Amino acid sequence: MSRFYLTTPIFYVNDAPHLGHAYTTVTADAVCRWQRLLGNDVVFMTGTDEHGLKVQRAAEANGLTPQEQADQTSERFRDAWDHINIAYDDYIRTTEPRHHASVRAFMQRCYDNGHIYKGTYDGLYSVSDEAYVTQADVDEGRVSGPVERMTEENYFFKLSEFAEPLLEWFEREPENITPTRYRNEALGIIKGGLADVSVTRTSLDWGIRVPWDESQVFYVWYDALINYATVAGYDGDPDRFAAWWPATRHLLGKDIIRFHCVYWPAMLMAAGVKDLPKFHVHGWLLIGGEKMSKSKLNQISPENMTEEFGVDGFRYAMLRDTSFGPDNDFSYEALLSRYTSDLANAFGNLLGRVAAVVESKAGGIGPAASPDSPLRESTAAAYEAASKAWEQVQPSVALDATWQILRDANEYFQRMEPWKLPEGNEVNAVLGDTLECLRIATILASPAIPDAAAVAWQRIGMTGNPADQRLPEAAEWGGYGGGTQVIRGDPLFPRISSD
Ligand code: MSP
Repeated sequence: MSRFYLTTPIFYVNDAPHLGHAYTTVTADAVCRWQRLLGNDVVFMTGTDEHGLKVQRAAEANGLTPQEQADQTSERFRDAWDHINIAYDDYIRTTEPRHHASVRAFMQRCYDNGHIYKGTYDGLYSVSDEAYVTQADVDEGRVSGPVERMTEENYFFKLSEFAEPLLEWFEREPENITPTRYRNEALGIIKGGLADVSVTRTSLDWGIRVPWDESQVFYVWYDALINYATVAGYDGDPDRFAAWWPATRHLLGKDIIRFHCVYWPAMLMAAGVKDLPKFHVHGWLLIGGEKMSKSKLNQISPENMTEEFGVDGFRYAMLRDTSFGPDNDFSYEALLSRYTSDLANAFGNLLGRVAAVVESKAGGIGPAASPDSPLRESTAAAYEAASKAWEQVQPSVALDATWQILRDANEYFQRMEPWKLPEGNEVNAVLGDTLECLRIATILASPAIPDAAAVAWQRIGMTGNPADQRLPEAAEWGGYGGGTQVIRGDPLFPRISSD
């Protein structure tokens, strides 16, 4: 058994949860559910990023204190994640005392190690990106909102000193950042030259106080990134941190590569933390070719989608129809077509049809799978492909491989026409083999569609829950022993009309 610690970015509480946030979070949830099927010890964390100017200004605009703004919006994120069945183990809020303690200890360590000095920042700041930017960033369109001039006496992190150690890390760990295109992007940032960065602010209060100079607060990113260490036990629980930190993997969108894949590893080195995380970066979920944002009014909440497609329908279509890495356009039509072909037809309809024939030809009792089934080999190959894809954080590939089992079973069932066969061994073999395919596919699909998988599991006569099965053993052919009642029930995924 190994440890697996997966994080999502923590979301700013200036804004309500939308599909873009849900995309990262559903992916992380499914990947963790897969790891649990493998019997690994998993910690899955998500949470909210609550300090900084962006949140302070949103609070002012809403007539709230920053804490009230944070409390309300953080709760909305938590509700959205509960609604779409996100099984997180820890939900961190950066306003929690455990996080304050951890940030202060972490940054103090960097300071004591000689990597932080006092200087003057004089330059531009983009509140919507919560980032110090240059005129070139503005001119070349890398800034998402208006910029402000800032002159402050701040503390600086000697990022420039870490270019070499970062390059060594890239050399040492060819898989530190996937997919490769984003690894190259991070490498380009480092090779382009790293300037020292201001890590504190004097002109705002809404943040964590600097322990060696209480007149300043930490710049929001140097507070936010440390959340990952807080959850792993930094400061409060050194044994836990030692055990869990080496197992860390971060999931993030491509917009925050610089902070995650360059600044954060350098900070860890500065604080003397030896193990560096692995990073899995994804592109945008686009609506009509554009990134969702408050100003474009193209934000859709996860709840908007689940009303029609159900929680599992939404989760599945999102995971299956987006390739992890590039940008992906998201459309209602694509979602509907995926729901219909894969869930209503390939899965739900097969389940209904096999149950009907079990009822008419086998007295409602599922027959066992046959050891020499023609479906045995292709099912094993599909398992291997799915397993490899989940390992590489490629849910769409993993689900495509899983559905191959169902496509093969559908084709076989259709070709054998068991409803026309007389009762006996031949019909029993067709039914048992189809049920076995359903059993295996149900386990493998459970990270994406946990609730529907649990229902399908009962319907085919299995006890317990597919999520409690252990891979790879549970995916071996022959697990469907037969002899239990198969239930027809209502359609697992009711059809949705397009009008
Ligand atoms: N608070 C920072 C992250 C700090 S992590 C230490 C932040 N928050 S955010 O709420 O603006 O966005 C966080 C993440 O949401 C993005 O990196 C990305 O993972 C996800 N997405 C937000 N909009 C998205 C899309 N339209 N498409 C895909 N993911 C998107 O940045």
